[in-house]
Amino acid sequence: MHKVAVIGTGKIGTAIIRALLESYPSVRIISTGRRDETLMKAKSMGVEATKDNDYAVRESDLVILSVKPQHFSTVLSQVKSWEGKKVVSVMAGIRASTLSSLLKGAKVVRAMPNINAIVKRSVTAIAENGGRDEEIEEVFRALGTVYWVPEEMLDVWTALVGSGPAFISEIIDGLVLGAVECGMPRDLAYNAVLDMIAGTVENLRLNGDHPVTLRDLVTTPSGTTIRGLMTMEEQGVKSALIKTVESAYRRAKEIGNEIDRKIRD
Ligand SMILES: NC(=O)c1ccc[n+]([C@@H]2O[C@H](COP(=O)([O-])OP(=O)(O)OC[C@H]3O[C@@H](n4cnc5c(N)ncnc54)[C@H](OP(=O)(O)O)[C@@H]3O)[C@@H](O)[C@H]2O)c1
Repeated sequence: MHKVAVIGTGKIGTAIIRALLESYPSVRIISTGRRDETLMKAKSMGVEATKDNDYAVRESDLVILSVKPQHFSTVLSQVKSWEGKKVVSVMAGIRASTLSSLLKGAKVVRAMPNINAIVKRSVTAIAENGGRDEEIEEVFRALGTVYWVPEEMLDVWTALVGSGPAFISEIIDGLVLGAVECGMPRDLAYNAVLDMIAGTVENLRLNGDHPVTLRDLVTTPSGTTIRGLMTMEEQGVKSALIKTVESAYRRAKEIGNEIDRKIRD
């Protein structure tokens, strides 16, 4: 990896640049954006920044497409040639086959990181349809963990892992409010919940158990946990979680179809 263009220096583009600079200090990065403010932010990270997408692509061998899907057609109209470039799209929804037909002469790969890339804990899926590529894996390993998956899996990945940090944040907020209702100061409850969740994740990972095994370990007869679990059942929490992921998945598919149709027209 020598010369990388990051087209679209927003939340994900910025996280990618920071991680690449840290893991591969000698890499040359050209980042792009539309506003002066975006370029100044990019320059403050020590990379070259420009509004000229054509220049950025021309000067690079690896191109990361990190604009919103609805802005992709503008980028497309600005770049004269994609010939010989390796292009990684992190844009939700736009299929590899659509990208390949539009980015003539480029090798195209789709990847789906999540916002935890900011703290280098992204869980990124890379579509393996075109075969695995070591260089692209290195880019996303700098952001966290990497899973190679068939492209068909990316919509459910977007729902579970892409939207997941928002779902988990809602659950955390609910637990905190419950403790506040019982008289615990908010800050104490918040820190306690974060530590409790981190510990639960580690416990599940180390023991390799199904979550219900850990649940049953905590659930003493006539105790507090079974009372809370009964409330969760009554309120349909598990069913709500299943439907949450499923509805987000359906929306990811819907968006994909809408964008794909628009771009192909
Ligand atoms: N956020 C996430 O959690 C997440 C996770 C996985 C994948 N993604 C995908 O990553 C992409 C970016 O998401 P984001 O959350 O980072 O969005 P964002 O913060 O809005 O960033 C988008 C960036 O694209 C720039 N841009 C727009 N049009 C451009 C153009 N023609 N040329 C150059 N730059 C242009 C914008 O620059 P200006 O501000 O200067 O206009 C902005 O900095 C999306 O396609 C999304 O599906 C996001």
